[in-house]
Amino acid sequence: MSGETAQIPVEALTEEQASAELARLAALIARLNVAYHQKDAPEVSDAEFDALRRRNEEIETRFPTLIREDSPSVQVGAAPDGAFGKHRHLVPMLSLDNVFDAAEFEVFVGRAVRFLGLSEEQAAALQFVGEPKIDGLSISLTYEKGRFVRGTTRGDGTVGEDVTANLKTLRDLPLRLKGEAPELIEIRGEVFIGKAAFLAINETQNAAGERPFANPRNAAAGSLRQLDPKVTAKRPLSLFAYAMGASSAPVATSHWEYLERLKAWGFTVNPLSTLLAGKAEAEPFFERMVRERATLDYDIDGVVYKIDDLALQDRLGFAGRAPRWAVAWKFPAEQAVTRLLSIEIQVGRTGALTPVAHLEPVNVGGVLVARATLHNEDEIARKDVRVGDLVQVQRAGDVIPQILGVVPEPGRERAAPFVMPDHCPVCGAMAKRPEGEAVRRCEGGLTCPAQVVERLIHFVSRTAFDIDGLGERSIREFHDAGLVRAPGDIFRLPEHEAEIATREGWGKTSARKLVKAIEERRTIPFSRFIYALGIRRVGESNAKLLARHYGSYANWAAQMRAAAVIGSEARQELGEITGIGGAIADEIVAFFAEPHNRATLDDLLGQITVEDEQAGGDGKLSGKVIVFTGSLSTMTRPEAKAVAERLGAKVTDSVSKKTDLVVLGEDAGSKARKAAELGIDTLDEAGWRELAGLPAV
Ligand code: IVH
Repeated sequence: MSGETAQIPVEALTEEQASAELARLAALIARLNVAYHQKDAPEVSDAEFDALRRRNEEIETRFPTLIREDSPSVQVGAAPDGAFGKHRHLVPMLSLDNVFDAAEFEVFVGRAVRFLGLSEEQAAALQFVGEPKIDGLSISLTYEKGRFVRGTTRGDGTVGEDVTANLKTLRDLPLRLKGEAPELIEIRGEVFIGKAAFLAINETQNAAGERPFANPRNAAAGSLRQLDPKVTAKRPLSLFAYAMGASSAPVATSHWEYLERLKAWGFTVNPLSTLLAGKAEAEPFFERMVRERATLDYDIDGVVYKIDDLALQDRLGFAGRAPRWAVAWKFPAEQAVTRLLSIEIQVGRTGALTPVAHLEPVNVGGVLVARATLHNEDEIARKDVRVGDLVQVQRAGDVIPQILGVVPEPGRERAAPFVMPDHCPVCGAMAKRPEGEAVRRCEGGLTCPAQVVERLIHFVSRTAFDIDGLGERSIREFHDAGLVRAPGDIFRLPEHEAEIATREGWGKTSARKLVKAIEERRTIPFSRFIYALGIRRVGESNAKLLARHYGSYANWAAQMRAAAVIGSEARQELGEITGIGGAIADEIVAFFAEPHNRATLDDLLGQITVEDEQAGGDGKLSGKVIVFTGSLSTMTRPEAKAVAERLGAKVTDSVSKKTDLVVLGEDAGSKARKAAELGIDTLDEAGWRELAGLPAV
């Protein structure tokens, strides 16, 4: 085919001409790609190349039935075989804390101001960038020497899935950054599908007899995780870039300036992003977004506020999984009214009995809701919710829908009030409610199948052992079949590979894959291991704190057994870890005191290896125990603590012979004397700044 269709504007093409033109473009762009990528000898300028791709896409939009198998909009190298590869983010992808009103926003700002020790004037001058919070999927894009080399999903925040081939089909994604860029840079953004495009996709799904997506977010997720990039290419995914990951060189001094750089490199930055001159402008911006929300072609669920100054962002750092310098101010929750069909009691991993409402399915802000939590028996009594009632349901963000209350129906006869069972509906053991607690718990412990199964599900979940292909369904299946009763059994599953292969729904390939996934997890980082144990009140951040503090499993276990003695040094040390309070310490000690748990641990440790924890930050102070005393003049105590922890140190409150260093602020009192008595190294504030690599003031 010659170039006779090349000059015809897209709108003027007949179907026949369009087909010829798409063939021409496919061949041409493929050749240019080889010249550029493989021979490093570009034949045309970036702009010309982009124009050809755009023309191709415009024709495809006009004639979707003509999209070719080898269309350049698909841009596949090779389709990923089976699952996606995993990739570790150079800088973790964190989440945001939420606020729901002006008062909570004020608390967020106040916390940052106190952390930084800003004066009232400085606080008033604090600038923010406000950005719509897109309800899509966050992704991380890596560019080397200005070329797009990898794109990953968020995953668990540390390791994501490699969806490079799929991302390459996005129009908004520059394959090459325009202008100067650092050698290596990670750029974060949100992939989403517009509302109109979402409706069109669902029409296609319906026509093809496939299940429609529940909302644009699911449609975007489903499209991005397609094994065949050609399918992704047909889904109109968009991308807004909004955050920084790793970078080999600084690119900006403020977030606003960074957004400008993103635009210059060729990204789309949400045009509604606004530089706010002070916190007073935050609320009006929020109100404006509430008004504009309905006019946008994409879903937003709130506003993200980021402190503009990157030097301040750096000082503020992170607390747990969220930055101290940004927050999401969420829109009010969506509500709807429906009927309560029944109340089911679920038994969780710690034996908690939770009443769950089964509802007549109802659309709440675009999501079909059929279940909602009722929390506990007091809540049910307080709201006087009874089976058969008309109830008000609320859904906010990703949280489980809730029942707000009953909608009165005068004249209708209501069912009897709900009575919470005093026995576990699963194992029949007593379900008692300890004094002062709202929750009733099954006393069956690990004889209760519900608890065993829930713990196992938690154990293999994505943020714990993360065993691919071993989800809730297969855990239930293997448990019922008697193959898995305790965590250690999971690592004995490979011995049953042949048997698994013959099970319904399994086959040789899937059994092989499962075994491979299990073998890959025989070694696990210490913090994940702690989290996987499912100890009450020990979530991911506490697990990290513990792992950092104790360094190795052997040390931790020994200390926890010693901590069983109330008043022991080990017990005191545990309670003093920042973030771990008395109640959490009690749970951990109780866990280790339980003989069954010890036996389970021994069995499990015969199967796996727990990696010692790497110190955080650059590890300069890794393993050192530091005490701050007296008042510091250049930084607040929380900031000092955060800096020390980032460098791998543990910060404790009291001086003991385990302390390595005491930093003396002004008017240091008894702790300074104790340090001198015990012969512990001390530093003044200037010395501390130097040690921490902070500029002198
Ligand atoms: S910044 C460390 N900016 O919200 C801060 N996130 O709830 C990284 N999101 O995982 C996030 N719009 O998927 C940022 N303008 C925006 C955003 C945004 C949507 C998502 C993102 C993140 C989640 C946190």
